[in-house]
Amino acid sequence: MALSDKDRIFTNLYGVEPWNLQAARRRGNWDGTAGIIGKGRDWIIEEMKASGLRGRGGAGFPTGMKWSFMPKTSDGRPSYLVINSDESEPGTCKDRDILRHDPHTLIEGALIASFAMNAHACYIYVRGEYYNEAAVLQAAIDEAYEAGLLGANAAGSGWDFDLYVHRGAGAYICGEETALIESLEGKKGMPRLKPPFPAAVGLYGCPTTVNNVETIAVVPTILRRGGAWFAGFGRPKNSGTKIFCIQGHVNKPCNVEEEMSIPMRELIERHAGGVRGGWDNLLCVIPGGSSTPLLPKSVCDDVLMDFDALREHKSGLGTAGVIVMDKSTDVIKAIARLAQFYKHESCGQCTPCREGMGWQKRMMDRMVEGRAEIEEIDLLESITRRIEGHTICALADGGVWPVQGLIRHFRPLMEERIAQYKQRHGDPEKTLPMAAE
Ligand SMILES: Cc1cc2nc3c(=O)[nH]c(=O)nc-3n(C[C@H](O)[C@H](O)[C@H](O)COP(=O)(O)O)c2cc1C
Ligand code: SF4
Repeated sequence: MALSDKDRIFTNLYGVEPWNLQAARRRGNWDGTAGIIGKGRDWIIEEMKASGLRGRGGAGFPTGMKWSFMPKTSDGRPSYLVINSDESEPGTCKDRDILRHDPHTLIEGALIASFAMNAHACYIYVRGEYYNEAAVLQAAIDEAYEAGLLGANAAGSGWDFDLYVHRGAGAYICGEETALIESLEGKKGMPRLKPPFPAAVGLYGCPTTVNNVETIAVVPTILRRGGAWFAGFGRPKNSGTKIFCIQGHVNKPCNVEEEMSIPMRELIERHAGGVRGGWDNLLCVIPGGSSTPLLPKSVCDDVLMDFDALREHKSGLGTAGVIVMDKSTDVIKAIARLAQFYKHESCGQCTPCREGMGWQKRMMDRMVEGRAEIEEIDLLESITRRIEGHTICALADGGVWPVQGLIRHFRPLMEERIAQYKQRHGDPEKTLPMAAE
C-alpha cells in the first residue's frame, strides 16, 4: 500500500506551493513549536527514540540515541548542532528539494533538535553548487527571524537560538562529518580519526551533533504526531517515511516520499513509471547512492527498500538514491565511472585510499576494454579488500563497494569481455595496477 497524502511529511516536495512562511504555516509548519519545546529535552529524545528514526545521511544511525550522547549539562563549552547539506553522493538529490521547496520543515526542526541538545546555535553546511537552494534557505531564515521564530526567545519557547547558513566549495569529502567540521572552521575539509566523536569534541572543540537535512526536517512532524505514528511505517528497526530519488533508465525519474520497506519493484513502477522497456528489461539497480553495491534483477524482483533488507543482500539503503540500469547499460563502464569519481574525491591523507583509488580506477578502465587477464579480477577484488576498513574515513569503503558489487554479480560478463579482447587483439601487455597510464 502506498503512503497516503495525509501521512506525508514533505507536503511541498515538488514546489507546487510557495516555500515562504505564510504558505508553510498553512501546511502545518510552526504549529505548536513552543508547546513541543515546553515538554522538555528528555521527552523529545525519548519520543525520537520511540519513532525509530535512523539517520538519513547514509549510515542509518538511530537519531534519538545519537542525540542522547550530547552532554546534558555544560562544562563551560557551548554545544552545537550542525546540519549536513553537502549532498554530494552521486544519485542523491533529496535534501535539495527540502531546501528549495520546504525550508521551514528544516528550520523548525533545527530549533527543536538544537534545544534537545542544549545548543543555542546551529550551522547548516550547504554544498557549494546549491547556490539557489542556499539563497532560498537564507531568505526563509530571514523571514523566520522577522517573525520571531528564530533569535531571542525563539517561537516564544524561551530558548534563544541562532541559525547560520555556511556554503561549502563543492567537495564530496566535506560531507563526511569530521571533514565538514574542519571545513566549517575554515580549514581544509579533511576527515580526522574518531574517537573522539563530535559529541565530545566537535565544532571549535565543543560538543557537536552532525545530522542530515532530511533527519532534522522530519523532527517537528514526528513530535506533533508522535513517535509511535512514525514507527508505524516500515518494518521494525527500519521505520518511518523516506524520500527516495529514483533515476536512470526509468520512464519518469522523480523524488518521492514513501513508506520505508516498500518493495523496490513497487517503488519504481508506482512512482517512476517503471523501467524503460518494462521490468524484464532491467539489468541492475544501485539502491542507495553510488557507494552501495549494485543488485542484479533477480534480487530487485522482490527486495524491500530498507536498511536491513538491503544489507542482507550485501548492499545498503545509503541515501536512497535509486539508480536504475536497463539492459542497454555497459555496467562495467558505469562502475568504472564511479571508480573515477572516488579517485577524484579522495582527500589523499591515507595511503590505501590515495593510491588504491587510482589503482582501482586504472584496473577498471582496462576491465571496460577487456584488456586484462582473468586472474586480474581476483587481484582487483583483493585490492578492494585491502583498502576497505584500513582508512580514516568511509570514503574509501564507499569507493570499493561498487567494484565489489560488480565482481560479485557480473563476473561472467567481465570474463567474457576479457575473452573478446583476446580474440581481437591477442594477449594484453602486462600492466601492474600501480602503473599510471
Ligand atoms: C565521504 C562521505 C561523504 C558523506 N557525505 C554526506 C552528505 O553529503 N550528507 C550527509 O548527510 N551525510 C554524509 N555523510 C555521512 C556523515 O558523515 C554523517 O554520518 C551524517 O551527516 C550523519 O547524519 P545522520 O545521522 O542524520 O544520518 C558522508 C560520509 C562520508 C564518509
Ligand atoms: S579514506 Fe580517503 S578521503 Fe577518507 S581520510 Fe583517508 S584519504 Fe581522505
